[in-house]
Amino acid sequence: MKRILCILTAVLMMLPALAQKAEKATPLTQEEFLNQALTPPMGWNSWNCFHCNVSEEMLMGMADAMVSSGMKDVGYEYIVVDDCWQVDRDADGWIVCDPERFPHGIKHVADYIHSKGLKFGIYSCVGDKTCAGRPGSQGHEFQDALFYARSGVDYLKYDFCYKNRANSWNAYHTMREALKAAGRPIVFSICEWGSTKPWEWAEGIGHLWRTTGDIGEFWIKGDKKDGRLGVLDIIDLNRDLYPFAGPGHWNDPDMLEVGNGDLTYDENVAHFAMWCMLAAPLMSGNDLRSMPDEIHSILTNKEAIAVDQDSLGVQAHVSVEMGDKQIWVKKLSGDEWAVCFFNRSEKEWNLNYNMMDIPELEGGLYDVRDLWEHKDIGKTDRNVIATIPSHGVLMTRLTPTTVKSKGRR
Ligand code: GLA
Repeated sequence: MKRILCILTAVLMMLPALAQKAEKATPLTQEEFLNQALTPPMGWNSWNCFHCNVSEEMLMGMADAMVSSGMKDVGYEYIVVDDCWQVDRDADGWIVCDPERFPHGIKHVADYIHSKGLKFGIYSCVGDKTCAGRPGSQGHEFQDALFYARSGVDYLKYDFCYKNRANSWNAYHTMREALKAAGRPIVFSICEWGSTKPWEWAEGIGHLWRTTGDIGEFWIKGDKKDGRLGVLDIIDLNRDLYPFAGPGHWNDPDMLEVGNGDLTYDENVAHFAMWCMLAAPLMSGNDLRSMPDEIHSILTNKEAIAVDQDSLGVQAHVSVEMGDKQIWVKKLSGDEWAVCFFNRSEKEWNLNYNMMDIPELEGGLYDVRDLWEHKDIGKTDRNVIATIPSHGVLMTRLTPTTVKSKGRR
């Protein structure tokens, strides 16, 4: 019965669109399509915490929590339902949502999320099935894109399972064309796990592309046998990809595991700080409805987020390496820099360092601010002294001393 209701709702939802059949969607130009995600997308995705356990009630609750927690105020925008919202196709090939879990249909969820001032994202797959074995988009790309546009979808994550030897460029190019033809601005998130080096071909096709296999809620892969990667593994795999990122086309080191699983407080901080340094999409993956204060304070650190969202859109690179201690630098707009001391070791790092030794700074004089303590900690003409915990960071922002502060402090 519920299933019939869901199908009925979907049909009713499409009636106005069908009535206007003659009035075709105005396709987006390539320029309009590209003019999205000029800073890394920020939001929440269901997969890391809920896997297939998704429902309209949960998604709407997450939208409420994104607003009430203040996450919306610091820039989080998309609520994305990952795999398992879909169960079937109807006789005409339209995708059908799970009637038990989405009794009011997908547009109802999108409308609710929009009513909160947020945006709605959805998931599909290049192949005839998704990674969880639900119906994929192969052969239905244009129809699915139309369904997304009519449902009010703002973001599509597009996976790479059951692809039947599909060529990745063709598969993602086809969906990009379908999205443009459907006429609604939809951010296109390519998820082929870095398997065909999307950083070499995906600029202009998608706005972000996964660079690795799936992230797990742990620091390093170690003896976990499920094939997922740890936070540190993923940082290393992204290290040399900085030349490929920029406004509208981002390397995606996968969704955040902040607040999930085995990660310690310091590891959660380092995970978030390094994603900001990497100019990564910030898609939180924890249960926003019940997050502890300490996790909330990490996810809403405005000064770290400002580094991620800087309009220059540069991804950090390693400037100085001293064994398992690294100094990452990210050029920011207005001649500022983010500098992150990253302690990968198992011991504390008793830092006593002259920042003038960082080649990129060219000996310039900067005011230094600690972005986790929210404190000015001196200038680059004096050594920076700090204790950085194992698997922790000291993340700083450097402002040329001659430039007056810009209301940050
Ligand atoms: C793949 C993706 C994940 C998630 C699952 C869903 O593994 O990489 O992020 O979307 O599929 O099945």
